Amino acid sequence: MNGNSAATEQVATEQQAREQALVEQVVASFETATDPRLKQLMQALTRHLHAFLCAVRLTEEEWQAAIGFLTAAGHITDDKRQEFILLSDVLGASMQTIAINNEAYANATEATVLGPFFVEGSPEIPLGGDLSGGAAGQPCWVEGTVTDTDGTPMAGARIEVWEADEDGFYDVQYDDDRMAARGHLFTDEAGTYRFWAITPTPYPIPHDGPVGALLDAVGRSPMRASHLHFDVRAEGKRTLITHIFVRGDELLTRDAVFGVKDSLVHDFVQHPAGTPTPDGRDLGARSWAGVRFDVVLAPAHTATGTGIPSADRSL
Ligand code: BEZ
Ligand code: FE
Repeated sequence: MNGNSAATEQVATEQQAREQALVEQVVASFETATDPRLKQLMQALTRHLHAFLCAVRLTEEEWQAAIGFLTAAGHITDDKRQEFILLSDVLGASMQTIAINNEAYANATEATVLGPFFVEGSPEIPLGGDLSGGAAGQPCWVEGTVTDTDGTPMAGARIEVWEADEDGFYDVQYDDDRMAARGHLFTDEAGTYRFWAITPTPYPIPHDGPVGALLDAVGRSPMRASHLHFDVRAEGKRTLITHIFVRGDELLTRDAVFGVKDSLVHDFVQHPAGTPTPDGRDLGARSWAGVRFDVVLAPAHTATGTGIPSADRSL
């Protein structure tokens, strides 16, 4: 704040009435909307926005700064960089929308943020294959099942996985056209899956733009807790977009985008070099990690739909 303590001052009754009259005027201007949902959204937005403006007694300099912030977010946004989604992420708005639209259902696995690094067209890998594609990192064996909430195995479920390398970068953040540390596979008849990936490590969200400057200004870290992204879909089931997190990671309690849920924190068991691997792969002098992630999918008719485009992809 700029020393303007008006937010806590008594606002004169006459002034309050003038402010409220404007709110009602703007709300009324949306009465002509033929789409009832659009009308509801715009009228509620108007009331909440004005309530905020009046409560904090926004100064004109602060209004200018906000416009400058949004302008900068627009300028840095292109088909690869989406600063507005990043803003939604750091405000917790993405996670709140996910919570609203993916209601808890029995023992179904919880959802979390999609993030900006999903891309279409990942390679298909066989069961037990390696999706690292040469990305730097400790080999990590990932295995589990996909079932419905009654425990029935989901054969042929599609599992898409993507992650950053040990330097904290996704393949799409490099200047070359590499595709690495991403892939998809399908569960077998018993609903089981297994693959090699790399052990997730912490990395920052893109913080060289206005959102990064905002985090800096408020003393917040851009770091995300270590995670592996999953998109799991099966016929008749609610599509699950989620991560698994590494138990013991000190960033679990202060993930920059509020994406961590206790149920998604898993043991990544460390194995020293020389420990036999589950599939007999010879890793020479390298240590490796192993994690189990049993996915439970809710029925498709349960609340879902974040408006996230990738959720629309067919199986
Ligand atoms: C990520 O998981 O990579 C991510 C998620 C939200 C914002 C930025 C990055
Ligand atoms: Fe990520």
